[in-house]
Amino acid sequence: MQINALSTADTPNPAFLWREGAFVPWSEAMVHVNAVGHASVAAVFEGIKAYRADAGDALLVFRLYEHLQRFVDSARLSRVAMPHDVEGLVEATLDLLRSNRTAMDTYIRPWCFAKGIVRQLLVPEGVATETLIDSWPFDSSLGSERGVKACVSSWRRIDDQSMPPRVKAFSNYHNARFAALEATRAGFGATILLDRNGKVTEGPASCVAMVRDGALVTPPVYGGILESITRDTLLVLAREELGLPVVERPIDRSELHVASELFFMGTAWEILPVLALDGLAVGNGAMGQVAKALDRAYADLVRGRVDDRRGWITRHPIG
Ligand SMILES: Cc1ncc(COP(=O)(O)O)c(C=O)c1O
Repeated sequence: MQINALSTADTPNPAFLWREGAFVPWSEAMVHVNAVGHASVAAVFEGIKAYRADAGDALLVFRLYEHLQRFVDSARLSRVAMPHDVEGLVEATLDLLRSNRTAMDTYIRPWCFAKGIVRQLLVPEGVATETLIDSWPFDSSLGSERGVKACVSSWRRIDDQSMPPRVKAFSNYHNARFAALEATRAGFGATILLDRNGKVTEGPASCVAMVRDGALVTPPVYGGILESITRDTLLVLAREELGLPVVERPIDRSELHVASELFFMGTAWEILPVLALDGLAVGNGAMGQVAKALDRAYADLVRGRVDDRRGWITRHPIG
């Protein structure tokens, strides 16, 4: 497990990406070198997964509408003039899967950035933008026994009064990257950031939850985190499928060491148990019972093994 891993240099590219309504051959989707740099100051994106149904007849795009609503919200909050709405982006995403004849587990990344040459450091409000949707295959770890050794970062998480973590902006990952690089250098596979008051926030690209006294406990959405869709999913599954009490409240750093389970949750990492934190075992040092049960319930949903009674799946038939 690598701290940054969603793809590697060897990950195959699709035939096309979606660029402002056109399907552009992946290898021809260019920008001028001058467009790289400041454009990312005001760029926003999303990360979505489409899982191949066990039945082999469809790709099941997980919570596509919620992801694209967050994308639209991120653009609006950042005052990035993205001209697309959720319905249009849903259609574009499904058209892209069709054009690429995508049939395997696929990560989908819509993003929006200032178009053309951006020489103004602060990327003024209302500059023209480009919206793209890219996709690439991923390997799911659902169903496997797994875990990671993590540390608490010496870096503090950005907050709502500086760079709102609620916005999924590329520039927020500058903070996340500092934490990830520090952890990697120290030999850890993951890291957890605290806020300025020493309360637990999230990982560089995923939320965190712990199990304490039989309840699933996680920082609230006003606790300096991205409003994670996986977090929301797992809280619902914990409550409704596992019958676990769910508590959203601030968490002290030291509480993480008395938790019986601790895990990351996010689209990229799915559910990733922390086996040890700063050298101290979490629980018995193996993937815990709650993580396993949530892993099963999540896998059943995204693989289409159970009824989608919450309307979380967008089915994309494959031939
Ligand atoms: C900072 C951060 N927190 C949490 C998450 C998890 O969010 P989601 O479950 O919606 O993918 C992500 C993933 O994109 C993230 O980048």
